[in-house]
This record gives sequence, structure tokens and C-alpha cells, in this order.
Amino acid sequence: MYKIAVLPGDGIGVEIVPEAIKALQAVGEKYNHQFEFTEALVGGAAYDAVGHPLPAETLQICKQSDAVLLGAIGGPKWEQLPVHLRPEVGALLPLRKELGLYANLRPCFLFPGLTHASTLKEEVIAGVDLIVIRELTGGLYFGEKNREKIDGGVKATDILSYSTYEIERIVRYAYEVARKRNHKLCSVDKANVIETSRLWRETVTELAKEYPDVETSHMYVDNCAMQLIRNPKQFDVIVTENMFGDILTDEASMLTGSIGMLPSASIGGEVGLYEPSHGSAPDIAGQNKANPLATILSAAMLLRYSLNLEKEARAIETAVSRVIENGYRTPDLIEEGCRLAGTAEMGDLVVSQIKSL
Ligand code: IPM
Ligand code: MG
Repeated sequence: MYKIAVLPGDGIGVEIVPEAIKALQAVGEKYNHQFEFTEALVGGAAYDAVGHPLPAETLQICKQSDAVLLGAIGGPKWEQLPVHLRPEVGALLPLRKELGLYANLRPCFLFPGLTHASTLKEEVIAGVDLIVIRELTGGLYFGEKNREKIDGGVKATDILSYSTYEIERIVRYAYEVARKRNHKLCSVDKANVIETSRLWRETVTELAKEYPDVETSHMYVDNCAMQLIRNPKQFDVIVTENMFGDILTDEASMLTGSIGMLPSASIGGEVGLYEPSHGSAPDIAGQNKANPLATILSAAMLLRYSLNLEKEARAIETAVSRVIENGYRTPDLIEEGCRLAGTAEMGDLVVSQIKSL
């Protein structure tokens, strides 16, 4: 029996999370596990209901669970709120910090059926299989912020800092992942300009000595942004700081066909958090158009990383891959000759594949 906290959030979050739950339930029935789902408020929905985007009760429910499944948060409705009440800064960042989730894993894998869905050329992306490991509780996102009046305007400051300890733990984690993959680690920084990046590079260089079986390389972030679309197959594991990881993973999602395909796992504390890498997509919310696969694949990561259920995780991934092979696509991936499916239908298709495995 596993306890899962369920935080649908805002926008398409409320449509995609139920599809991931259906997949987990199907896996539970097939492999004899019981999941207890406890839903809690987060983001704009929580602000509207109780006046805060991360109610104490929600945090409590998360801490008492084996894992957290999150949809998406935010939307134009809450953009004008004071910054500490906005869904991103008021809920998502504190949730990551409170749960100690310093490692964010974003695997970019191209399902064979989706080679044509991307805006990138087939020969560039066919066979892509990389993972970005993003530091998630440090850097610019959490540094001191300030505004002061100066002559003729305002001056705003965000502090960017990283300690050896913070760098070491994420980089060590990335090395362990590389050991289970193709033994290649690329550390991404901006050491030609930024001091934290120089410390980052020095720290990686030291750690590399402990992992002689892994081929270590360093790359500047601007170059990495270019290499990701020029020749993504050169990468196995990429490790980088918070902000660079945020930017590079949106870019890398295009290697999978659509950002609607990119799952994520945030781990490092006692309770892991699993969410799609995309946002709440207010423009398509409530229309049964959202791609639930990133969330369903995040549920697979939940099984793998928080519950240690590898076979069950693979069952979900195989089911997703078969649904794609059978030609079903949500609007973000639709192409000629494929069958259009809505959010709920896509979830049902995955469930029936899980059952027939
Ligand atoms: C992500 C998102 C978040 C981030 C936003 C919603 C705060 O873009 O998970 O990548 O920047 O970390
Ligand atoms: Mg992002």
C-alpha cells in the first residue's frame, strides 16, 4: 500500500493528473499494489480556495506521503498577485525547498513513432536518449532578491550563489546516473564569465577523479543550447545549475517531439515529486486537448524512483510507446495519417495497453 499525494493545480493540471492516476491504478491492479491517493490544493486553485498557493495542510499531506504527483500551476489570473502569493514563487519553489528536492531529472527520449512530430530534422533527433539533471533548490531561484529606488528609476537584484556542498551532491548524483547509463557526463556552466560557474567547474573537475569510469566533459551553456539542436546524440547525462537547467530542458523537450512528452522527477529528500516539465497551458485548458503523456510518464518515474517498482514503471512506458505506435496523437503531436485523441481518450488508451501487457 502506497500513499500518493495528488496536487492537480491549475489549467490543464486538472485534466492530465486524472489520466496519470488511471495509469497508476491499472498498474496497481495488474501487479497487486494498492495506491491511496490524497488530493490537495496547490497553486492558483489553492489561492482561490483558501488564500494561499501552498496551504500548510497541502505541505503536511505531501510530507506524509510516499510520493507526490503534481499537475501544473499558474495562469494569467494570478499573475498580478504580490509575488509571494503567486503560484510559482509562493507554491512550487517552497514545495521543492521544503521537500529537499535538489535533483530534477528530465529524461529526453524520442519514441520512435514521433520522429516526424518535432520541428527538428529526423536525422538529428532519431535515437536521442539523454537526461538532464538540473540542480533544483539553489542558484538564482532562491537567492536574495531586492529592489531599490535609484536616480531615474529602480534597481533590481537577484543573488546567484552556490556552495561546494550544493554542487557536489548534485554532481555526485549525476555521476551515479551516468554509471547506470552510457558513462558520459557533460557538466554545463558559464565558467568564462560567472564566478559560481567557476566554482562549479572546479568542483566537477575534482569529483571527476573519483569517477574515472565516466567520461567527463565541460560545456558552456550557450554552446550547449546550440549543440542540443545541432547534435543531441552526443549527450548522455547533462548536469547543470537551476536556471540553466530550466532553460535547456524546455529546449531539449523539442527533441522528444513536444513539451507534452517530457516528464520530470524531483528527488533528494524523503518524498519525491513528479510532474510534467510543461506548465498549466491556460490557452488550451478545459478543452480536452492537453497531452497527458508527460504526466503519465512522470507517474512511471514515481514508480521507479520513489517506490522502487521498476517493472511497473516499464509497464507504463511500454504502454505509452504502444499507443504512439498505434498512431494516436493529441493535438500537439498530430500529423497526417495519425488519429486525433483527446486528453481522456489518450489516458484510456494507455490503460488498455497496460491491461493487455
Ligand atoms: C519548470 C518550470 C518552473 C521553473 C516554473 C513554473 C517556476 O518552468 O519546472 O521548469 O522555472 O522551475
Ligand atoms: Mg521550466
